[in-house]
Amino acid sequence: MSGAQPILADSPTELDGVSLSALAQSYGTPCFVYSASHCRAQYAKLTGALANIPHSIYYAVKANPSLAILQLFGDLGAGFDIVSGGELVRVLEAGGNPAKVLFSGVGKRVDEIDLALKVAIGCFNVESAAELVRIEERAAVLNRVAPISIRINPEVDAKTHPYISTALKENKFGVPADLALELYRHAAASPLLDVRGIDCHIGSQITSLEPFRDALANLLELVDLLAAEGIPIAHLDLGGGLGISYDDTPGLDPQQYGNAMAASLADRNLHFIIEPGRFLVGNAGVLLTRVEYLKPKPAPGYRNFAIIDAAMNDLLRPALYQAWHDVSVVEPTTSDATDTSDAAITESTWDLVGPICETGDFIAKERRLALAPGALLAIHSVGAYGMAQASNYNSRPRAPEILVDSGQARLIRARETTADMLGPERIALRQRDAAQAPT
Ligand code: LLP
Repeated sequence: MSGAQPILADSPTELDGVSLSALAQSYGTPCFVYSASHCRAQYAKLTGALANIPHSIYYAVKANPSLAILQLFGDLGAGFDIVSGGELVRVLEAGGNPAKVLFSGVGKRVDEIDLALKVAIGCFNVESAAELVRIEERAAVLNRVAPISIRINPEVDAKTHPYISTALKENKFGVPADLALELYRHAAASPLLDVRGIDCHIGSQITSLEPFRDALANLLELVDLLAAEGIPIAHLDLGGGLGISYDDTPGLDPQQYGNAMAASLADRNLHFIIEPGRFLVGNAGVLLTRVEYLKPKPAPGYRNFAIIDAAMNDLLRPALYQAWHDVSVVEPTTSDATDTSDAAITESTWDLVGPICETGDFIAKERRLALAPGALLAIHSVGAYGMAQASNYNSRPRAPEILVDSGQARLIRARETTADMLGPERIALRQRDAAQAPT
């Protein structure tokens, strides 16, 4: 069994009983559509796989920070892994419990630390000696005790894309074990710091168990060293990174992951924490987009382009990580056509590209698809790091988001308007007046 099954595998025209064509009609394209039941099923798979270990799941907010998604996981009992003050505000806004928040990230600002201390988050995942000093200082100023964990760089190769590998010596994250030992000694002696845990995050989209096993072994060694010094550790947080299936390659099997963790953690009095993002939401989402133009190759050496209304500003993953996302035709399909030789539908090998003025603006390359102008397409597996990484590049408003739950579709984020985009901007009135003034 793979870590996640694509939600449209059986029916490329519906999501949990809701017609994708109808959604595209109502909300326009491009738009993101998520399945609540898939999110819940993934969460249940993980809790089931970890049933033999005292554990907590902290959803990595960065994967999909929509308030409705946060609320969904909060309702299931998840905590939240955040990396900014903005994410903390989102969690609070969605009704999340601050005591079940972990704050990761290498660059925590003073205002972000202060907010986290004031709302009493569960733990700071500290990434450097300088950050520990800053957190201690802010705790003194605000008259609080800061709960901390040190993020270890376990120096394991997650064997994933270099941009999403985080536990090599050359990476900016965490600290090596010997430095961590010093930081723990300092923290244990400080009345302003409360040592709670130990953590790491070795990378994302990891599909084999070895890197997780190796990282866990490294952390456990340090837990033992700390115990010998009389510094007890209550929780061990192994981060996120559980890989999913984007194509025919299976994702990480959550049960195998759970079994491996249980074997290593047996007889240890440690609360186990993970921070999955992609595993919970990646395959819960599709991006609906329409073909604007077909631009078949005019001569040998050229390529067949289908120009769609979604672009790299909506889904950056193909451009940034050469990520592969499955594409299916929602309508019209060749079976919709009255005559399969319908001239409007052209079966060929297409590059699906957006309207942005960059050669890197592609969503999928060399896909064998039967396309017509105006065709509705679904780009699969975009629930994680899709909308989360969307931008206004080329002054394109960001797409809306729809959550399908129990056969009902709900708009959870409206399409941005040009007024939304221009709202924060200011121009000097002087220039405008001057331009309008009669000469
Ligand atoms: N915890 C920490 C500290 C992280 O930095 C991350 C992800 C996670 C948890 C969640 O990892 P996940 O379970 O989702 O793999 N934009 C990239 C992925 C970047 C991941 C960054 N950190 C992509 O689209 O593939």
